[in-house]
Amino acid sequence: MTHFPIRTKRLLLRDFRADDFDAIHEYAVDEAVVRFMDWGPNTPQQTQEALDRWFAEQAQVVRLGVNLAIEVVAERRLIGSIRMDYQGKETADLGYSLHSGYWRQGYGSEAAAAMLELGFERFGLHRIWATCDVGNAGSYGVMEKIGMRREGTFLQDTQVKGRWRDTHLYAVLAQEWAARRGPPV
Ligand SMILES: CC(C)(COP(=O)(O)OP(=O)(O)OC[C@H]1O[C@@H](n2cnc3c(N)ncnc32)[C@H](O)[C@@H]1OP(=O)(O)O)[C@@H](O)C(=O)NCCC(=O)NCCS
Repeated sequence: MTHFPIRTKRLLLRDFRADDFDAIHEYAVDEAVVRFMDWGPNTPQQTQEALDRWFAEQAQVVRLGVNLAIEVVAERRLIGSIRMDYQGKETADLGYSLHSGYWRQGYGSEAAAAMLELGFERFGLHRIWATCDVGNAGSYGVMEKIGMRREGTFLQDTQVKGRWRDTHLYAVLAQEWAARRGPPV
C-alpha cells in the first residue's frame, strides 16, 4: 500500500526530490532553526549528504524510517521536514524542523498530527514518542497541541553541540489518540 504523499488541510508531506536542495539548505543554515538540533548550521556538502541519505531511505522496500518534505500547497514551497522512525515493539519517535519564516502558523502541529494519524491508523503503532531540549518551547508546544503528554524530564542525558542538555520526553498511546479523535464516523 502506498502511504505517501499525505495531504493535510494546507500541507503536502511528500518524498524528497533532487531539486529540493536549495529550499532545504535555506533553513539548514539558519541558526534559529538549528539551535536545539544535533546538526547544523550545515555546509552545502552536509545538506547534500542528508538529502542523499533520505533518498537511500526512500528507496527501501520496507521503510523503517519515514522522512518527508513539508510543502505548503498554496505556495508549492518546501518549508521543512518531518520524520518518524520505527523503534521496534510497535513504537516510533517523531522529529521535525521548519523554515523560521513559517513558524507560529500551526504548520508544525498540522504536519505532526498527520504523522500520528499515519503511525496509529495506517501502521498500527502502539506508542509514539518525541524528545526535545527543555528550552525548546516551539517543539514541546507542538507535542502538547497534538495530544502528547510530558512523561518526564531527563537531566543532562545527552550532549548537543558540546553542551549537556536537559530533555523532555513526550508520548501518546494509540488509545489516547483514538479517544481524542472520537469514534470513527
Ligand atoms: C518546533 C517547530 C517545528 C514548531 O513549528 P511551528 O509551526 O512554529 O509550531 P506551531 O505553530 O504548530 O505551534 C504549536 C504551539 O507551540 C507553541 N510554540 C510554537 N512556537 C513557539 C515559540 N517560539 N515560543 C513559544 N511557544 C511556541 C505554541 O503553544 C503553539 O501554539 P499556538 O501558536 O496556538 O500558541 C519550529 O519551531 C522549528 O522548526 N524549530 C526549529 C527546529 C526544532 O527545534 N525542531 C524540534 C527539535 S526537537
